[in-house]
Amino acid sequence: MPGLLLFLVSLDFFSAGSAAQTPLQVFAVAGEAVVLPCSLWNRALFDDSPTVEWTRADLKPKAALVYRDNSEVFEMKHQHFEFRTSLFHSEVKDGNVSLRISDVQLSDAGMFHCLKIPMEDARDRIENSTVELVVALNPNIAVISFGDEKMVVECEARCWQTKPQMKILDDQGRTLIGEEMQTEDPGGCSTIKQRVTLQCSAQSRRIFCRVEFPQFNQSRATQILIPGKVFRLSPNKKKLLTF
Ligand SMILES: *[C@@H]1O[C@H](CO)[C@@H](O)[C@H](O)[C@H]1NC(C)=O
Ligand SMILES: *[C@@H]1O[C@H](CO)[C@@H](O)[C@H](O)[C@H]1NC(C)=O
Ligand SMILES: *[C@@H]1O[C@H](CO)[C@@H](O)[C@H](O)[C@H]1NC(C)=O
Repeated sequence: MPGLLLFLVSLDFFSAGSAAQTPLQVFAVAGEAVVLPCSLWNRALFDDSPTVEWTRADLKPKAALVYRDNSEVFEMKHQHFEFRTSLFHSEVKDGNVSLRISDVQLSDAGMFHCLKIPMEDARDRIENSTVELVVALNPNIAVISFGDEKMVVECEARCWQTKPQMKILDDQGRTLIGEEMQTEDPGGCSTIKQRVTLQCSAQSRRIFCRVEFPQFNQSRATQILIPGKVFRLSPNKKKLLTF
């Protein structure tokens, strides 16, 4: 695949050439772990224990991680990232100073700068790369109302930073057509909801909600088991029983 190779080479050239390029974007889902890539560009400027600062300018203190003399400088780290960030210690000497963030949170999203600070005699040649972390939440699916014959199932993707495509599917993988709504709360959080109306049935069944993030080639799904029978417990009280 010569075409692909060429593309990768030119991409590399641009990212090393200047900081004005659009930063690399990395996608993560809250609760999972993610790696923000960063490498030393000019290995010769660094000894075997390079000094690295992973920062986010909007934080105070701004460090998500500071690494010096082969270990982390914990005092400089923002509390928000306590116990959640690390480098791949054994790879640092080979120039891999990628940041691992575990248990990603929505508030982790933003522009991270990876500052690589060379040895004394090359201090003016700091390498600075930028990675943007984009965070999404797993979708939620729930039965929001039901009657004797019909029920309404709703899937919700809250606070997205990159707009997902949402699909509600039955257990055969068929798309169930529903209505989609988009809301924005005062905090600036954009949420997508989709509702489908289903016939109640005697059989239990699974309904899936899948959100796709095409620009990152990522998708996540969640499911709900809808019990097969709805019992009328009293004249005006209905309850779903799962068994
Ligand atoms: C690193 O680069 C970003 C933008 O590309 C800039 O905002 C930041 O100030 C730079 N940091 C240093 C220490 O050069
Ligand atoms: C750095 O090391 C980690 C762990 O082995 C790996 O997943 C990642 O791809 C490496 N990154 C680079 C830029 O080499
Ligand atoms: C997208 O992801 C799928 C599954 O992880 C993978 O098989 C496929 O090669 C990826 N496509 C691209 C363009 O990265």
